[in-house]
Amino acid sequence: MSIQAQQRRITAPEIRARKGKEPIVSLTAYHAHTAALADDLVEILLVGDSLGMVMHGMESTIPVTMEMMILQTKAVVRGSQRALITVDMPFGSYEASPAVAFDSCARMLKETGAGAVKLEGGVRMAETVRFLTERGVPVMGHIGLTPQSVLTLGGFRAQGREEKEWAAIEADARAVSEAGAFSIVVEGVAEPLAARITELVDAPTIGIGASAACDGQILVMEDMLGLNERVPKFVKKYGDLRTHIRGAIEAYADEVRERSFPSADYVYAMRKAAE
Ligand code: KIV
Repeated sequence: MSIQAQQRRITAPEIRARKGKEPIVSLTAYHAHTAALADDLVEILLVGDSLGMVMHGMESTIPVTMEMMILQTKAVVRGSQRALITVDMPFGSYEASPAVAFDSCARMLKETGAGAVKLEGGVRMAETVRFLTERGVPVMGHIGLTPQSVLTLGGFRAQGREEKEWAAIEADARAVSEAGAFSIVVEGVAEPLAARITELVDAPTIGIGASAACDGQILVMEDMLGLNERVPKFVKKYGDLRTHIRGAIEAYADEVRERSFPSADYVYAMRKAAE
């Protein structure tokens, strides 16, 4: 048993027990400082493999590696104390078999200190979700639009636009929930389908571009802060960081060029005023 006095983190079973109760607030985080800012306001911080696109300018999440996910997850764990840190398993690290998935997930949890993993796929991944949960790995599912399938889907397209596609997506949700997932991200599906899935399964649904009918919501933090130029249509921007950061950099650059950059006296005076 640890002798360190630590704040207790929210656990995967606590999230599962929130089904039908207070909505679950979730955000992505890739850095210690943004994790620290969000920690007491959210239940789940997801280190999403969207970091490949958001932080590294990649075209998709396909090239993201275990090493990239491990590095950023360690930063998010260091920056937070309360939220359940859930980490996306990158493409290629879990699909081949349940045993391969277990080895990758065990490495991820041991090296990062995260409390759970997320993996994409419904019926096809249910056996793996069961294998992992029975062996001590809490799993968040991800169905509907699954970005790691971009090459076979032919693009990032909303799913279940026609009613005839709904049965397959409902089967995905049921399979992952029955396999023991503690929650399921439902991405890019129409509101009536999101509502049906939420009604159907025991695991809480966490929507992204899937309406308010879900048990909780998740957004990419940089999208909702207004830092990313191109964001999906459904994203509401709660901030305008892009403009703010540009303005600050312009002010700094002007001061350096005009030689009006604050002297050391200014820095000392500010420190004194803060005392
Ligand atoms: O990678 C990611 O950030 C995600 C969320 C958008 C759900 O999977």
